[in-house]
Amino acid sequence: MLAKTPPMGWNSWNTFGENISEDLIKEIADTMVDKGLLAAGYEYLVIDDCWSEKERDENGMLVADHNKFPHGMKAVADYVHSKGLKFGMYSCCGVKTCAGYPGSMNHEFDDARYFAEVGVDFLKYDNCYHPVQSGVVSYNTMSMALKASGREILFSMCNWGKEEVWKWARSVGGHMYRSTGDIFDDFAHVRSLSESQKANLCCSAPGCFNDIDMLICGMNGKGNVGLEHGCTPEQYKYHFALWSMFASPLMIGCDVRTVDDETLALLKNAALIRINQDEEARPPMFCHEVHGSKEAFICFKHLSNNEYALGFFNPMEKATNLMISFTELGLNHLSGFAFELTDCFTGENAGRENEFIDLKVGAGDCKVYIAKLVKVK
Ligand code: GLA
Repeated sequence: MLAKTPPMGWNSWNTFGENISEDLIKEIADTMVDKGLLAAGYEYLVIDDCWSEKERDENGMLVADHNKFPHGMKAVADYVHSKGLKFGMYSCCGVKTCAGYPGSMNHEFDDARYFAEVGVDFLKYDNCYHPVQSGVVSYNTMSMALKASGREILFSMCNWGKEEVWKWARSVGGHMYRSTGDIFDDFAHVRSLSESQKANLCCSAPGCFNDIDMLICGMNGKGNVGLEHGCTPEQYKYHFALWSMFASPLMIGCDVRTVDDETLALLKNAALIRINQDEEARPPMFCHEVHGSKEAFICFKHLSNNEYALGFFNPMEKATNLMISFTELGLNHLSGFAFELTDCFTGENAGRENEFIDLKVGAGDCKVYIAKLVKVK
């Protein structure tokens, strides 16, 4: 089964847009290995839009851009595979991609064969320039074409949440599905995309995950989706922790060649990745008992092995206290059990609590714990 847990990797779009090339992709592949990202779980290297010539060849087949990829895509795929990574590419269910390159409509089976011959392991499939036909049909066609290609290819549906995609992505064979519009490098997008999907997370499960778009951590306002200064370090922490809690695919979007140490440590945070990759893939419960605030929230997520994740998220512009009484979770202190807490950011043991947690959380910041339920008497 593909996508037993949320797919993890890197995608070219957020930083590079159309400025992609064979040399760049090889350098990214080298860096993903050298900086320990592959070892941390980021296994897919995905080339987004703008990789092909503007026209198909005389046989109607897609052709790699001769200047950007002079040795063709198979050479790129072979290099990526030689580093132990998996290789991803991009197409679109309409007649053109979003950036105006050839789309796969009415070419699905040929294009799936092309991707299989190249050695593609992951296809991101976008939603521009398609006719009135329902996305259910368009995505189902490519899904079947990929299966018929003879190669196992993860199907990453990028339909931006149209037609309530969370209700049918699994039915058409998708392994992940974009449920929102595009992310840009600011905290307003982090908030609006994630908050829009709180009620749909119950549709994520092994084999098919709700994708709230690629990570902007470490972009700092630069690159194709960069805006002004980007986010603060705390807001990037919030973003990564929330994507982990929501079991969203973790697709890095920054330039990993020049990434700063703080971002690299965040992207490799083993505790948060463990929460994201938990084999049971259970959606979090939301607890809203937060001292008058309707905006800050607490997530409680069941993990495997008698562990839980507890996240305190404050998206507001000033610090706030967040409090959870364990009776809200059905845990009475008279039970004789307590939560033993480990701080996901510091790795430190944060002690045992059996009644409540009351924390001050800074503006646009979060605190996340792994909580083990232990008997105390
Ligand atoms: C759409 C997608 C983005 C990216 C671009 C490429 O906007 O949602 O993630 O793939 O197209 O043109």
